[in-house]
Amino acid sequence: MAKKRYPETKILSKNFDKENSWTFDVARENGAYTMFEKALKEMTPDQVIEEVKTSRLRGRGGAGFPTGVKWSFVPKDVDKPKYLALNADESEPGTFKDRWLMELDPHMVLEGCLICAYATGLSTIYIYVRGEYPLSQERLWGAIREAEEKGFLGENIQGSGFSCNAYVHTGAGAYICGEETGLLESLEGKRGHPRIKPPFPAVEGAFGCPTVINNVETLAHVPWIIEHGGEAFAKQGIAPDPDNPRSNGSTGTKLFGVSGDIKTPGCWEFEFGITVKELLYDYAGGPLDGREIKAVIPGGLSMPVLTADELDVPMGFDDLVKVGSGLGTACAIVMDDTCCMVEASENIAHFFADESCGQCTPCREGCHWMEKIFKKFNANQGTRSDLDLLEGLFVNIEGRTICALADAAVWPLRSIIRKFRHEFVAKMTPEEQAAEKEAQAEKARETAGVS
Ligand SMILES: Cc1cc2nc3c(=O)[nH]c(=O)nc-3n(C[C@H](O)[C@H](O)[C@H](O)COP(=O)(O)O)c2cc1C
Ligand code: SF4
Repeated sequence: MAKKRYPETKILSKNFDKENSWTFDVARENGAYTMFEKALKEMTPDQVIEEVKTSRLRGRGGAGFPTGVKWSFVPKDVDKPKYLALNADESEPGTFKDRWLMELDPHMVLEGCLICAYATGLSTIYIYVRGEYPLSQERLWGAIREAEEKGFLGENIQGSGFSCNAYVHTGAGAYICGEETGLLESLEGKRGHPRIKPPFPAVEGAFGCPTVINNVETLAHVPWIIEHGGEAFAKQGIAPDPDNPRSNGSTGTKLFGVSGDIKTPGCWEFEFGITVKELLYDYAGGPLDGREIKAVIPGGLSMPVLTADELDVPMGFDDLVKVGSGLGTACAIVMDDTCCMVEASENIAHFFADESCGQCTPCREGCHWMEKIFKKFNANQGTRSDLDLLEGLFVNIEGRTICALADAAVWPLRSIIRKFRHEFVAKMTPEEQAAEKEAQAEKARETAGVS
């Protein structure tokens, strides 16, 4: 019997194939803003937050923090304005899921923002869109203007007494401005230098005021949660691990992307649970003819790599961690057997070195240092002690910096060296290759108990 394909789900993507899906009229015909109206008329802000908590919705920007819990950190009785900074920077390599939402259903994104604004008592929404996404910027501005005209943005929305405005803020193309506090600095007109936390943005964010920061896809889920209830959302996907009281599971649906050495790159929506293998072979068409998949980074570039025989794992927050990787942005980058992992490593190190904001020495110096060592290997001049040096660098970078960009550089590189050491050995000098061969033989003898 033929194997059944993991079914696609159309919640976030329900309007993607409708003509002019980004316009108010088409979006409204398909229910846009009705859940915002429901929240305004029938629910208290606390009830909205509770519903989102019940859903166990976790942030889709990479870190997977529970959204309802984040909203509950926003102080209620403060004598300051509060802000929403919607993270639409999407600069993680290989990641192009938020773009689909902004280009094809900006009203769904805006409705999610408005429900969040109502729940947390904020009255200004900034949508921080990466500079390289002109169509997303245009469609979001269009949606804002239409929502203003129709009375879903502005003063006293729908006679409820609730007022809220929204603006698109365009980034200038820096990866670090996707990091939430780098984003806030940039929004304030400064260099995108991440801030030391605490204070956390929910308490002291943009312009020193309480600020919710969420990813585009995260908030696009919220109208569905209000319509169907948090419990219905929590029933989708992967339930929390009953043996782990801290587990939140991976509930709801997700936009999953695939790019790189693959037949049909793309973006699809599924409930959490589809395996990496199913995503790559059943939807993205598998490897190019005559080639084999060698390695996959499951979520952007910032996660440890999986080898071809590690792909039978569900794309879920905890499931990928269990096998030593992570979900990240859930947009997989595929490398096939024509890809040299040493060259890929140099490329990865170059990206992070180039995008480091330079505030922390381990990141500023370490990323360039790693790049230089990979260059040495690619010139066939690598040594075994270079690999040891890299391991030492990883230890001295990880967890020792202001933001997670430096960790994001370490994770894929360390896993590549450990899983593809033979490719690095093949790029060592002949003397070093001989020494490595002897060391491996000695190790084998020790294991076998032969002196
Ligand atoms: C270097 C770096 C880049 C990031 N880039 C993005 C990004 O482009 N988009 C995004 O939503 N989150 C990005 N994040 C994660 C954000 O800091 C933050 O966790 C997220 O916006 C929170 O939203 P969520 O809880 O809805 O996921 C980045 C983090 C780091 C360390
Ligand atoms: S880790 Fe790197 S990018 Fe992040 S603050 Fe430090 S220097 Fe800047």
